[in-house]
Amino acid sequence: MTTPAIHADGLVRDFGPIRALDHLSFEVPAGIVFGFLGPNGAGKTTAIRTFLGLVDPTAGSARVLGYDTRREGDRIRERAGALLEHHGLYERLTAEQNLDFAGRIWRMSPGDRRARTRELLEQFGLYARRREAAGKWSRGMKQKLAVARAVFHRPPLVFLDEPTAGLDPVASAALRDDLAALASGQGVTVFLTTHNLVEAERLCDLVGVIRNGKLAALGPPSTLRPRETSTVRVSGTGLDASVAADVSALPGVLGAAIEGGELVVHLREGERASALVSLLVARDVGIDEVRRDRQSLEETFLELVHEDGDR
Ligand SMILES: Nc1ncnc2c1ncn2[C@@H]1O[C@H](COP(=O)(O)OP(=O)(O)OP(=O)(O)O)[C@@H](O)[C@H]1O
Ligand SMILES: [Mg+2]
Repeated sequence: MTTPAIHADGLVRDFGPIRALDHLSFEVPAGIVFGFLGPNGAGKTTAIRTFLGLVDPTAGSARVLGYDTRREGDRIRERAGALLEHHGLYERLTAEQNLDFAGRIWRMSPGDRRARTRELLEQFGLYARRREAAGKWSRGMKQKLAVARAVFHRPPLVFLDEPTAGLDPVASAALRDDLAALASGQGVTVFLTTHNLVEAERLCDLVGVIRNGKLAALGPPSTLRPRETSTVRVSGTGLDASVAADVSALPGVLGAAIEGGELVVHLREGERASALVSLLVARDVGIDEVRRDRQSLEETFLELVHEDGDR
């Protein structure tokens, strides 16, 4: 069995009276894209800082790439790439110089630094502008440069705190492709945080939802997939209040009403719509469409994040 990239065991981190991490336990297998989601202040950045050994846990422990974050933080930081909330680029240096400087820190040879700079800047579509000061770049361009710097030394694990924040949809999609390629092609473990649910669903192999420092959900991206609700909408002709009244009397129906010309029926959970359809047919309703409402991604997420109603 290979060592998991991250193994968190009952992690607690307090900042004075605030419990930022509350007994977090989970594992991230090597070579996957892991997405960490949660509302502002949930503890995502604190978790990353703990994994990098920049913040010590108040209780519990974590191993990253097999190293203990408390005792072997420098080993972890030597190996993992990271893009934290502030991109930390040198604004007066050019893009090329920023990357070259990162390569020196990692003690890469001049030839390797040149080749890697070109490879990454080309991949991100920034090569033509490599001689401009990074400070003059747009926010999205800086963000891409910061990601390039985080993966410059080909780390086996990279932490990206909101990598696509501020990127336009085309740039985000391109960056997602690059991150997916990094994981599938080069076996890099990508640990990212995001507020973009669609992004988490598309890009991640595993997602964790954190709420008040606790893990609210952990699973495949389908964990976030909208679930069917128990509301059924029927459109068609001949729908009126008397039909709604008959439908209300059916077993398994909690309520029915005409709204905006449609018949809206609330079924008991798990109830099928077949009795409803038979009744409508018997009442000579001309049915155009019967559809079940679906939760939106946001609704599913909100449900996960507020499960105990602890807003
Ligand atoms: N250095 C610190 N000193 C005091 N409190 C802190 C510190 N770092 C984090 N916290 C607190 O810990 C909690 C979690 O913060 P964290 O930055 O980890 O959240 P987050 O999930 O990254 O949120 P966001 O989505 O807004 O980036 C917050 O209540 C925050 O105020
Ligand atoms: Mg954060």
